[in-house]
Amino acid sequence: MNEFKEIRPTTFNEYIGQEDLKRNLKIAIEAALRRREPLEHSLFYGPPGLGKTTLAAVIANEMGVNIIVTAAPAISQKKDLAALLTSIEENGSVIFIDEIHRLPKAVEEMLYAAMEDFTLHIMIGEGAGARPISIRLPMFTLIGATTRAGKVSPPLRDRFGMIFRLDYYKTGDLIKIIRRTANIINVEVTKDGAKLIAERAKGTPRIANKLLKRVRDFAQIHSNNRINGEIALRAFRNLGIDELGLSKEDREYLIMLIKKFEGGPVGIDSISTALNEEKDTVEDVIEPYLIRIGLIKRTKKGRVATGNSYRYLGLTKTPQRKLFDE
Ligand SMILES: Nc1ncnc2c1ncn2[C@@H]1O[C@H](COP(=O)(O)OP(=O)(O)OP(=O)(O)O)[C@@H](O)[C@H]1O
Ligand SMILES: [Mg+2]
Repeated sequence: MNEFKEIRPTTFNEYIGQEDLKRNLKIAIEAALRRREPLEHSLFYGPPGLGKTTLAAVIANEMGVNIIVTAAPAISQKKDLAALLTSIEENGSVIFIDEIHRLPKAVEEMLYAAMEDFTLHIMIGEGAGARPISIRLPMFTLIGATTRAGKVSPPLRDRFGMIFRLDYYKTGDLIKIIRRTANIINVEVTKDGAKLIAERAKGTPRIANKLLKRVRDFAQIHSNNRINGEIALRAFRNLGIDELGLSKEDREYLIMLIKKFEGGPVGIDSISTALNEEKDTVEDVIEPYLIRIGLIKRTKKGRVATGNSYRYLGLTKTPQRKLFDE
């Protein structure tokens, strides 16, 4: 049994939450199908793990077409893009490019014509004998995904007919996702158990599913494969995940910001050095949720710990700092 495959929703019905986005997409898909045209190129942005890749696969499935899944780091040269686009066999196929903000400029420019008129302009031969040729491509739908809408260049952004933001999920939706996954992986979960896991999943389906699996390990050993509130709490205590869903790494971030940098403002370079983490990981994975729940702020001068952050750690601001702030 391939658990991973089964856990991923394949239809809009299984894809829980994101109701506004789904409503708009369904209309666009229905209209495209009636016109017998491919769906317009679409860009999805939002924090990791919210279901961008899953949604692209759902769209292809609902359109009844193939999907080719790739990511920008695999398309570092024009020839990679040419190979990708000439591998499209079926009119209307979906090409999914993850981390699309990372495409090199030359590749991006080649992509423009492909998006606009399904044509590939390439040079063949070398030196004096080189000449441009154009290759007609099947019609396709490009779906781009990014954690950073701001990093997608304006000319590329403009070529997407639809742009959607994925939001963090509400607890109620995460509970549904957890129950659905629990069903698939064959573990019983009580209402309390599902709610506790949902509340600590940082609004993120991928985390909800991950936590569910970790809690299941505990349930298997301690409670006959049944997840209730008590087992969930016990697992979270062991995993170091607190009631806000924050992990040891999150707490280290906050402690560093407050103790080492006096609450900021401090730049991303200093933060990533202090934590010994990649800048992208800090900006895309750690910070978005801390910002979302109001523990830190991104300002022009750098990151700043909020009062909530001090309270969360059970600290109070130092007197000097207080004078400064007020
Ligand atoms: N709306 C949803 N309903 C049910 N399950 C979901 C939903 N969205 C995501 N999931 C589950 O969460 C997991 C993560 O989703 P996915 O890989 O699509 O995230 P992503 O947004 O593409 O993340 P990344 O930006 O890191 O690529 C999937 O395996 C899927 O099972
Ligand atoms: Mg993805």
